[in-house]
Amino acid sequence: MNTIEKTDKYVFNTYGRIKKVFVKGQGSTLWDEDGNKYTDFLAGIAVCSLGHCHPAITETISRQASTLVHVSNLYYTQPQAELARMLVEKSFADRVFFANSGAEANEAAIKLARRYFNREEGNRRHKIISMKQSFHGRTMATLTATGQDKIKHGFNPLVEGFIHIPFNDFNALKEAVDETVCAVMMEPVQGEGGVVAASPEYLKAVRELCDKEGILLIFDEVQTGMGRCGHLFAHEIYDIKPDIMTLAKALANGLPMGAMLATERAAQGFAVGSHATTFGGTPLVASVALTVLSIISKPEFLQECREKGEYFRNKLKSLKSKHSLIKEVRGEGLLVGMELNVEAGPIVEKCLEKGFIINAIQGNILRFAPPLIITREEIDSLVNVLDTVF
Ligand SMILES: Cc1ncc(COP(=O)(O)O)c(C=O)c1O
Repeated sequence: MNTIEKTDKYVFNTYGRIKKVFVKGQGSTLWDEDGNKYTDFLAGIAVCSLGHCHPAITETISRQASTLVHVSNLYYTQPQAELARMLVEKSFADRVFFANSGAEANEAAIKLARRYFNREEGNRRHKIISMKQSFHGRTMATLTATGQDKIKHGFNPLVEGFIHIPFNDFNALKEAVDETVCAVMMEPVQGEGGVVAASPEYLKAVRELCDKEGILLIFDEVQTGMGRCGHLFAHEIYDIKPDIMTLAKALANGLPMGAMLATERAAQGFAVGSHATTFGGTPLVASVALTVLSIISKPEFLQECREKGEYFRNKLKSLKSKHSLIKEVRGEGLLVGMELNVEAGPIVEKCLEKGFIINAIQGNILRFAPPLIITREEIDSLVNVLDTVF
């Protein structure tokens, strides 16, 4: 049996996989088992933001792997302490909880918001408002928070106390808020939902309403955080701070790690024993995240991300004037979406044949989330290929 046959026989059939077996990566390049080379404009779904096998990451993994990998959160470890300090220093937050995935970080955020109010007010304030078309993960609470029906199918009964409203619609939020709501949870730029950014006026109004009503604002920056949108965190674009933020994906460049960050006030919702995970913030993943953060948070690195994102979007927009099948080009930084008037799947396949990895979401949208180290030359090559494919 080859790798594809073995996977299809022995692994749960939960992924619609493209029939390619990758064996090696370097920078923005991947190689398949037949020796074919691909330029990666997906980065493992916005995860390998420093590219594949970045020398500093490889060095950190091997150094830490030969020093200390795991001891559990019954004890203290230096990399976790230093990473928490650095995340706090570079964000709005005062405290960090370490998890292992985006869903887990969001699960922690939901639990924190509920417990913050339940400590004092019983369970009156327990509802979470989230957005239609949002994506927050696949655990029971996070799939309930997610605003896409296809994710929820067959899992009833869902978790109680979630309200979904249209994104970018402030009146809908105003109507949904009452004294039973504990938090508003949203992505500043919806990723899986189609690369759709919140409007600045909307987000400002959301923050003001949450302040007025004493409701916690949770930003899910699992996909948009860690430089993806041209700032360390996407909410910096809007000059608005949440009370709670979640991170994962690029945080450890491919090692599984999630984090929930919160202000001191919101963090009071948890006490010893309220929440825990065996693997959260191990010395291994924390030291990798430290390396990632020290590279990505450099102002000149983020500036380059913004400039390359703009360059990429402008190039894609220039294709729009040539090809009527392109409806819209949008995004922030190097999270770029192209909505089409046709199915996106066949375009993804054609690009793969020509050595470029891109991604289709929501049926008719192409999503590009290249490593943040992508070059302008690599962007030009993809745009030329898309031109031919279109
Ligand atoms: C915004 C957002 N939140 C949460 C998740 C879930 O993360 P994970 O797959 O690591 O559980 C994702 C994954 O795509 C995401 O994009």
